Amino acid sequence: MERIIFDCDPGHDDAVALAMAKGLSEYFKLEAVIATYGNQIREKTLTNTLNLAQALNLDVPVYAGSVAPLIRERVVAGNIHGENGLAGPVFPECRLKCAGNGITYALDTVINNPGEITFVSVGPFTDLAVCLKADPRFAPSLKRIIVMGGSTCGGNVTSTAEFNVYADPEAAQIVFNSGVEIVQFGLDVTLQVMLSEEILEKVRASKETNYKSIFLASMEYYVKSCKEFIHDYPAMHDPCTIAYLADPTIFKFIETDVEVDLKSTLHYGATVDLRESINKNVKKAIKADIKKFWDLFFKALEKLP
Ligand code: BDR
Ligand code: CA
Repeated sequence: MERIIFDCDPGHDDAVALAMAKGLSEYFKLEAVIATYGNQIREKTLTNTLNLAQALNLDVPVYAGSVAPLIRERVVAGNIHGENGLAGPVFPECRLKCAGNGITYALDTVINNPGEITFVSVGPFTDLAVCLKADPRFAPSLKRIIVMGGSTCGGNVTSTAEFNVYADPEAAQIVFNSGVEIVQFGLDVTLQVMLSEEILEKVRASKETNYKSIFLASMEYYVKSCKEFIHDYPAMHDPCTIAYLADPTIFKFIETDVEVDLKSTLHYGATVDLRESINKNVKKAIKADIKKFWDLFFKALEKLP
């Protein structure tokens, strides 16, 4: 089974991805979760990750990732995800503790298990970039990288930049140029996977569980803020990575070479596809089978506490 380190910044869609990772555990082995800054500061995303790990009986260690980007000033997405980064659900007191530093954990685990570990990143790319720069053995030891980030169909922070890349463009450039095989889920595909009133109704009609109430409370907030700021229902960005691990046939891909614009003032953090390049290390998802995605979501939902 593919062994996964999941790096996230919960975050409403990150939280759905974590839940799907638990509910679809028959398809891959989640080894650890790292909470990085992103949708909110690291202190808040770590609290949210620990709360989710407890609620989901995740049963894997939760590590602390980076607190800030490599070079640029930190930006967070409080307008979308709220003051605590996961507004909506109220969690009981958390008994779980952070297991330590996520960067040293990832370096040790990947280097000591060459070819075994897949690093899934659904927040800013900082943790991956730090690992890649910290030890030259890290890149060749990875099995592959799966990321949510980037866009060639317009941005969601600026007119061309997607949030996870915009939050640390220099780190994203290091990752895309690492030579490691990368599977990319950018806005081009994640915006196809939207929540809808029909899906919410189906969840409301499903059996009562602790996770069901967390999901409905968090989606109530996420829908409200997305309708206010994006003028639409929210997209299930980060869960695409987990759905792909469970069923790769959900998505269609092109092969490309992704570069990040680091120089332009207007397009800082935009990703560009160099399709003419001879270094096409990125499988970029371009099309999603929406029905298959939601079938997997409901399959996961049934298994959650
Ligand atoms: C990405 O930005 C974050 O707000 C989401 O969690 C997702 O990872 C989408 O651009
Ligand atoms: Ca995220």
